Amino acid sequence: MKIVVAGTGYVGLVTGACLSHAGHYVTCVDIDENKIELMKKGISPIYEPGLEELLIENYEAGRLNFTTNYKDAYRDADVIFIGVGTPEKADGSANLSYVFSVAKQIAQSIEKDCLVVLKSTVPIGTNDEVEKYIRESLKNNVEVELASNPEFLSQGTAVKDTLNASRIVIGVESKNAEKILREVYERFNEPIVVTNRRSAEMIKYASNDFLALKISFVNEIANLCEVVGANIEDVTKGMSYDIRIGDKFLQAGIGYGGSCFPKDTKALHWLAENNGYELKTVKATIEINENQKFRLIKKAKKRFKSLEGLKVAVLGLTFKPGTDDLREAPSIPNMRILLDEGAVVSAFDPVGAENFKKIYPERINYVDSPEKALKDADLVFIFTEWKQIREIKLERYRELMKTAVIFDGRNCYSLDEAETAKVEYYSIGRKNITDPNPIYGLSEAAAAKEQ
Ligand code: UGA
Repeated sequence: MKIVVAGTGYVGLVTGACLSHAGHYVTCVDIDENKIELMKKGISPIYEPGLEELLIENYEAGRLNFTTNYKDAYRDADVIFIGVGTPEKADGSANLSYVFSVAKQIAQSIEKDCLVVLKSTVPIGTNDEVEKYIRESLKNNVEVELASNPEFLSQGTAVKDTLNASRIVIGVESKNAEKILREVYERFNEPIVVTNRRSAEMIKYASNDFLALKISFVNEIANLCEVVGANIEDVTKGMSYDIRIGDKFLQAGIGYGGSCFPKDTKALHWLAENNGYELKTVKATIEINENQKFRLIKKAKKRFKSLEGLKVAVLGLTFKPGTDDLREAPSIPNMRILLDEGAVVSAFDPVGAENFKKIYPERINYVDSPEKALKDADLVFIFTEWKQIREIKLERYRELMKTAVIFDGRNCYSLDEAETAKVEYYSIGRKNITDPNPIYGLSEAAAAKEQ
């Protein structure tokens, strides 16, 4: 079976690498020549554990190839996976222009019957539209059919999630398409859910939006915990023993980010609205998350009155650990506020700093260790719970910082630890460990005003 994958981002490249690992002959197509050259040298254009090893192993075994020549690749393909991005448009809807541009290339290139599999996250009904579009634009007299096969990989564990997926969802309108996809996945020992295309498209959105809802729910309960004197960590622990609730995705923090939840919640909300239906839970999920991002900076502004001239350490920039992806990372709008307020920022992230520099080339001192960021700082924000950051003992903050005032957006430390280490500690959904002297740590101007 000759498989081609269009798009070499997280979805496409990981799919291509894993399918070749399962024994298929796979060609990955991308329009970006530099990316293709990198991958031929065994260098992954994205940071994803285990991916480079798979690229090298399967490229050397002759099962995996990379090209910009889509015409040649699509010409005699049995199956073409589309794994290009579907970014958010200004109105919240999904931008399908990359999907349709690949569809056009496919229609112009295929010379034999072919199954086109849409892996990108797309609004309900898109498979139907793409199929119609390709059939109407075909250059040659061939049969083409669309199938939906959404992905459920998480960044940072993408290879593991693909090779040991919780399920494979196949949305098809014919027995033939089902048979082909079952063959593609025959070496994957995972439950296969077969349904029609529209339900498969909906499964993807409903899954992501439900997970986002779970996070927003927990964040809202966390905010209430602060008001009523409860502790969110204990509350979620107590909830988690009920297997209907479970212990996953109950981590309170400064909100979800990434390339999926923010986009997919807005896209489904938009789609519902466009169909005359209001998805109230998804709407609330989005609103809660927007506010949650600024939870800590609000606490910091209350604590310090003004951040002007204060030396601020920022630990963690990516939207979660294990990735260099910054899309919708809460660190981004928070950094804007810090810079606008006139803070002097030193930032550390083990892999995200290079990408962050492209967003904020100005005025940030990027350092290569958390200790360097903490040195002489007046306060610190923890935006991402990288292992390197969690492992720092709270005593080190006291030793290194001018005043150890910690705003922890990922609840990396227990309150007992904070109390023992005698640091001033603000987190999410738990009581503040405050300093008896409120003037301590104020910027000079704010302290003068206070006195
Ligand atoms: C998410 C889903 O988890 C995948 O199942 C899905 O396939 C993927 O989107 C996609 O649609 O492609 P991902 O965006 O890689 O995966 O990241 P997650 O691990 O889900 O984390 C998303 C955000 O939620 C992060 O900012 C994380 O910090 C936050 N989060 C997660 C919490 O705030 N609390 C939690 O308990 C869990």
